Amino acid sequence: MKIVHAASEMFPFVKTGGLADYAGSLTKALSRFGHEVAVFIPGYRAVLDHPELARAESRLVIRVEMGDEFLSGEVIVLQLAKRLTLYVIRRDEYFDRRQPYGFGGRDYDDNDRRFIFFAKSVVEVLRIVDFKADILHCHDWQTGLTPLMLRYEEGRLRETLALKTIFTIHNISFQGVFPNRSFPYTGLPADVLAVDGIEFYGQMSMMKGGILFADQVTTVSPNYSREICTPEFGFGLDGVIRNRAADLTGLINGVDMDVWNPKTDVLLPARYSLKDLSGKKACRRHLLKAHRFDPDFKGPVFGMVCRLSEQKGIDLLLESMDFFVENDCLLIILGRGEKKYERALSNVAEKHPDKVSVSLVLDEEMSHLVEAGSDFFLMPSVFEPCGLNQMYSQIYGTVPIVTRVGGLVDTVIDLADDPEKGTGLMCRASGDDLRRVLNDALSLFANEPSMAEVQKRGMKVDFSWKVAARHYEELYRGLI
Ligand code: ADP
Ligand code: GLC
Repeated sequence: MKIVHAASEMFPFVKTGGLADYAGSLTKALSRFGHEVAVFIPGYRAVLDHPELARAESRLVIRVEMGDEFLSGEVIVLQLAKRLTLYVIRRDEYFDRRQPYGFGGRDYDDNDRRFIFFAKSVVEVLRIVDFKADILHCHDWQTGLTPLMLRYEEGRLRETLALKTIFTIHNISFQGVFPNRSFPYTGLPADVLAVDGIEFYGQMSMMKGGILFADQVTTVSPNYSREICTPEFGFGLDGVIRNRAADLTGLINGVDMDVWNPKTDVLLPARYSLKDLSGKKACRRHLLKAHRFDPDFKGPVFGMVCRLSEQKGIDLLLESMDFFVENDCLLIILGRGEKKYERALSNVAEKHPDKVSVSLVLDEEMSHLVEAGSDFFLMPSVFEPCGLNQMYSQIYGTVPIVTRVGGLVDTVIDLADDPEKGTGLMCRASGDDLRRVLNDALSLFANEPSMAEVQKRGMKVDFSWKVAARHYEELYRGLI
């Protein structure tokens, strides 16, 4: 099949969260299965600076209609691997920025134009290169209008650019809602801005456009696909989702085993496997040293890597801080995000430097070391569409402690539910229940054989795209 993906981030070129890992690794897996894959991303500064870009063989020039003017753009075309081509959409006025979506806690004012331009550029390139795609697969609100724009353009041209379109919801809490004055940039007919179109409480919603107008809607775990049909998790779009329930599936994400694999991980000071875990001990020592703790510390080490946002359960964690202070354990947090959480966590770390370490940076290498060197990985999310770190941690023999939401339910087996098969510890999204499982974690850690058993069970699970990408392949086949 000929498969096109459009995403607003992709590892290793630019990453703010799991979407980047997903886009980088699913596309690679599909091309390895023998499909012809093209991926579109915006040309942010990080992308343009990436050393791989120097290898680009060709460039295209495009002109895109935005309201009452035509804007030019450049497309850098790079062959990433056999059957895998990257298209970087470049218009420096829009994308040559250090951060993809905003700066200093605020979204950029021109995000409407930036991502309408991106969506239109994807369609325009498909026309120019005559790719004849079987599937156009778009991700999150930034590409939400692309399926509709594709159909509209096809109608104008009287030709087919892609047989079927898919829209994947990675996080329904970010919806790309803009005032109606943004609408003319889309070039779509006026009736699209209606209640049965992209109108959303008097504004326009790009996420709603993706949900309504793609041929198929997917999300990133079966459990989240059920949750977003409810007001509690639907962020106002649950009614719209329920209308498309017949075309909605939840497919769990896979893990890029070229990147997240303790046997081969070049970012770790030592490597290890199920057969020989001694490298994990070395990683733990390195991790403790890097955070100025005693490398010979004997108690459990709790690690956490995430965006510091309400979604990730930082409030629950703050409520439970006494646990870490009172018990013989350490807490290491790597994360960046909302200022109020950065401040609150730094305060705790300053007060208890012997117990808690907080690094407010984006650090890919350290994220691997936290995964490998911790004994437990904390992910007390309030909601979690799929979540990747709970899978990474199992692969690295680090026992996940998670809330019973979203993809966490589909990827962790609670030890309390199933002592024979359990791979992690689960709680409800409340401070009290989190403290309860943290205490369970202490008991588990004290029982060395049980702890080793749980670690090893997690390491045996196959989280690779080998399994997960086959589900996408089946979905694509079924559609065309
Ligand atoms: P989300 O996409 O909601 O942020 P995921 O669990 O799907 O959550 O993916 C998060 C990704 O971002 C993981 O690869 C994680 O390691 C990475 N990440 C989050 N915060 C940081 C950080 N401060 N430094 C390095 N990597 C981070
Ligand atoms: C989103 C979700 C996360 C998911 C990721 C990749 O950022 O918050 O749960 O793993 O997308 O699909």
